[in-house]
Amino acid sequence: MTTLRPGIIADVPAVLDLWTDLMRAGEEVDARYVLADGARDAARSWIRNDWLSGRYPFPALWVAEEEAIVAFLSITVSPSSPVVATTPTACIQDLFVHPEHRRRGLATQLVRRAREAATAAGYSRHQVGTLGRDTRAVAFWQRQGFDPMFVQMIAS
Ligand SMILES: CC(C)(COP(=O)(O)OP(=O)(O)OC[C@H]1O[C@@H](n2cnc3c(N)ncnc32)[C@H](O)[C@@H]1OP(=O)(O)O)[C@@H](O)C(=O)NCCC(=O)NCCS
Repeated sequence: MTTLRPGIIADVPAVLDLWTDLMRAGEEVDARYVLADGARDAARSWIRNDWLSGRYPFPALWVAEEEAIVAFLSITVSPSSPVVATTPTACIQDLFVHPEHRRRGLATQLVRRAREAATAAGYSRHQVGTLGRDTRAVAFWQRQGFDPMFVQMIAS
């Protein structure tokens, strides 16, 4: 049985391990995506001090739990722009499902739960960023109804 629930402090080690796997997956997709020294320590700090801080009007960390934590999603508030008029927007930061648990709808369920909670708190627009070369992630987000608005391009 799978339980979807907001994350708690006791989940930090498991979420940090999944976050590390997520970053490695990014490095495999695009050689320009390279983790900085100390990234894992920085992530530990923001999981605790941002996602689990209670500062957002909805849970910022969601986990899927079976025999262990097998997937997580993070979602925070996007800063409003003084230039472009927007509706209050929640930003999905990270999403990762352990490879052995994929294609069972876990990511879809996490996205649905997190978006429902954000909408109930007044954040009815939802955005996400992903690596442009990650065809799997792009396919997933398109399936969830997301459509590119801004495209960040790199030359080096
Ligand atoms: C992308 C990811 C989160 C999807 O998780 P998941 O639990 O397997 O996704 P779901 O089972 O909910 O898939 C929903 C739909 O997304 C699409 N999708 C998911 N994985 C796909 C893949 N490998 N190729 C093409 N489409 C895919 C499909 O339309 C799928 O529906 P279907 O299984 O009925 O065909 C997972 O593969 C993952 O963790 N990848 C590495 C990290 C990552 O890319 N995170 C997202 C970027 S922030």
